[in-house]
Amino acid sequence: MVAMQEPARIRGMFAAIAGTYDPLNHLLSFNQDKGWRKAAVQACGARPGDLVLDVCTGTADLAMELSRAVGPQGRVVGTDFCESMVRLGVPKVDAEKAPVRLGVADTLRLPFRDNTFRAVTVGFGIRNVADLEAGIREMARVTAPGGRIAILEFTQPSNPLFRFVYYVYFLMLLPILGNLVTGGRRNAYGYLPRSVLKFPDRDRLRRIVEGCGLRDVHVVSRTFGVITIHVGTKP
Ligand SMILES: C[S@@+](CC[C@H](N)C(=O)[O-])C[C@H]1O[C@@H](n2cnc3c(N)ncnc32)[C@H](O)[C@@H]1O
Repeated sequence: MVAMQEPARIRGMFAAIAGTYDPLNHLLSFNQDKGWRKAAVQACGARPGDLVLDVCTGTADLAMELSRAVGPQGRVVGTDFCESMVRLGVPKVDAEKAPVRLGVADTLRLPFRDNTFRAVTVGFGIRNVADLEAGIREMARVTAPGGRIAILEFTQPSNPLFRFVYYVYFLMLLPILGNLVTGGRRNAYGYLPRSVLKFPDRDRLRRIVEGCGLRDVHVVSRTFGVITIHVGTKP
């Protein structure tokens, strides 16, 4: 029963804040989030003409970034289990006539055959999936042999001085600002830092990705280690 309630709570939380999700992302990250997604696209190795998947795509910013890498001959599929988030991605796709198809799907049960995509990405999403390992395994299942998965996430910076400054902002100021703008809906911006603190650190996540059968696993850091991209190749 608990396993069923948690995803519903997460979906409800994102539905409640969908309308302010994009502007708050840019504001609270000091506009760094665009560069982080670009770095994830670079890390996943998407090339012109590729078919790629972005899971937990939300409002489709990472899917849109992928579409620039695969070009008009390629195709991007973006999936998320929160329809209110996905709907906000549709005008972005239309405005750029991007080769992106968006759909509603649970990352734990992706409606695709094995070995379908050249690359599979997830941006700030896997932390919210009820079963982390099962989510990564499902991403790997639909990745073609030789293709990569890339996991873009918040992590805790290792430099003690920077960590202090970061914690003051991330644990104290960000929840206040985020909840102020969203009217405190579902305390979503209190959940954000709590979920990051509970999430595996970069070394543990690396071992988990390896344990899911991916090879050549490496980690790219951004913004003083606040952001990591774990990249693995499907054998
Ligand atoms: C923080 S948002 C990230 C959105 C987007 N990837 C980005 O870069 O901004 C997390 C997203 O993960 C989605 N999500 C969480 N668990 C999911 C699951 N099991 N299946 C599909 N989507 C999920 C939520 O609905 C939400 O849209």
